[in-house]
Amino acid sequence: MKSIECLFERDGLPRFGLPAGLAAIYGGDFGLARPELYANFVSSVDGVVALPGADESGRVVSGNSEPDQFVMGLLRACADAVLIGAGTFRRTHGDLWLPEAVYPAAADLFANLRTQLGLRPHPLLVVVSPSAHIDPAQPALRDCLVITTPHGEARLRGTLPGGARVAVLDSQHLGGRSLLDLLHAQGLQVVLTEGGPSLVGQFLEENLIDELFLTTSPRLFGRQEGDERKSLVEGVDLGGRLLTLSSVRRHESHLFLRYSRK
Ligand SMILES: NC(=O)c1ccc[n+]([C@@H]2O[C@H](COP(=O)([O-])OP(=O)(O)OC[C@H]3O[C@@H](n4cnc5c(N)ncnc54)[C@H](OP(=O)(O)O)[C@@H]3O)[C@@H](O)[C@H]2O)c1
Repeated sequence: MKSIECLFERDGLPRFGLPAGLAAIYGGDFGLARPELYANFVSSVDGVVALPGADESGRVVSGNSEPDQFVMGLLRACADAVLIGAGTFRRTHGDLWLPEAVYPAAADLFANLRTQLGLRPHPLLVVVSPSAHIDPAQPALRDCLVITTPHGEARLRGTLPGGARVAVLDSQHLGGRSLLDLLHAQGLQVVLTEGGPSLVGQFLEENLIDELFLTTSPRLFGRQEGDERKSLVEGVDLGGRLLTLSSVRRHESHLFLRYSRK
């Protein structure tokens, strides 16, 4: 794959000193703060991130873009945990939410980076599901934390594989702060959320997302009333919240934007 081109980068961003093979594809060095909560989405030019139907929306929206998959892999490779809502989990079948699962060609480089950063071999998958309406047979649950309610915990009891743990919060509506505190208490400081729009909306409403990585895919989907297509944020009014642009990268007609909280 041709290298991603860096068009703009703000001074003073953290730098890990990426393994050379990763820096060559990414078009430069990369780093994150610790602790940090960061989100990654791919959106069409007209702002659609989620489509109804059986397929996982991100792949459809990105058009199976290889550089987008690389960036997803890199962002996962830097995380203690990958956090998703049950809506996103229910739409993916067989996904392991690992860096190498989305971009296998860089599996060794991602592993080297995790060793360099002193991280556990794989990021922990965390699924937020108050209802616990999730398929316990999904392979990703073999190394996973499910955050649910007492009712959800009762529903899941005895169904999950050995490597899955359950944390219980006593509320149907789980606030972003309580979720983040729970993760920090478990030593999960650098957390990537891959959505979806409802979960990320909750974190944005509480102004808890430090950085947003947004791929703009050169596609238009359009929207019609009641068609269940979603934009990046669902269910909250953010009132024109301002972000700061940290970097812009390009691969052919895909743009890779990095924003930080103002
Ligand atoms: N383009 C992209 O980059 C991208 C990225 C991610 C997802 N997506 C797409 O987005 C769609 C899914 O998004 P979504 O908004 O429908 O679902 P979501 O945010 O993934 O998950 C919503 C579910 O998570 C739980 N949840 C989320 N926030 C909660 C809160 N504050 N309190 C309590 N529970 C909470 C609830 O689970 P229960 O149902 O268990 O109550 C809720 O039904 C899919 O189509 C997916 O493919 C696209």
